[in-house]
Amino acid sequence: MKKKVDIVQELWNSKFSRDGFLYGTEVNSFIKENSHLIEKNTKVLCLGEGEGRNALFLAKKGLHVEALDASDVGLKKLQRRALEENCAITIRHTLLENWQALHKYDVIISTFMHLERKDQKDMFIKAIGALKENGYFIAEFFSVDQINFISGGPKDTNLLYQLDELYELFSSLPCTIHKLSQEIIMLNEGKGHKGEASVIRVVLKRWI
Ligand SMILES: C[S@@+](CC[C@H](N)C(=O)[O-])C[C@H]1O[C@@H](n2cnc3c(N)ncnc32)[C@H](O)[C@@H]1O
Repeated sequence: MKKKVDIVQELWNSKFSRDGFLYGTEVNSFIKENSHLIEKNTKVLCLGEGEGRNALFLAKKGLHVEALDASDVGLKKLQRRALEENCAITIRHTLLENWQALHKYDVIISTFMHLERKDQKDMFIKAIGALKENGYFIAEFFSVDQINFISGGPKDTNLLYQLDELYELFSSLPCTIHKLSQEIIMLNEGKGHKGEASVIRVVLKRWI
């Protein structure tokens, strides 16, 4: 039987093997909107960073950026762009489920990480656990209602996010919920995300 790491890697490698950048080269707009929360010279981790559009944006702002992803093809494209643009980004090629933080981060971000419902909880627990005191977790995911839209994302509700479940989980973690909302937005991110979409936007601040 194939290992999960190989299944996830093959899926995303095939998507990222095509020419160009599936979600474009511009930073995700929710990350950009909240980038004022990220202070200069701090350490940022991008979870499920793919071809690197957010990591590049943050590295260009002078931050110490690490990008974690299961797809080596995505990460190679990220590294190539980083070299072209004279940026240094540390790469972590791993399945999130196999990752343990070696140090604490000032900020952790993630956009459109499609995890199975049972693994979503672990991602949030790990991310909050890997933040420094007063560190931020900033993220955007497709909500379960995205099943009704054709703008991108998985057609499997088990890989989408449920607002009330997130509220319950975040309330039990050592963090303040600065933002947790489900919104209908207009996506314009490469060929992969285009049109009206239902997303969940998250900003958490670690408090101990
Ligand atoms: C929809 S793409 C989003 C990429 C990037 N965050 C963006 O918004 O451009 C999802 C990414 O999550 C990665 N991914 C999915 N499941 C993963 C897992 N279990 N561990 C690590 N990376 C994973 C994929 O390889 C892919 O790069």
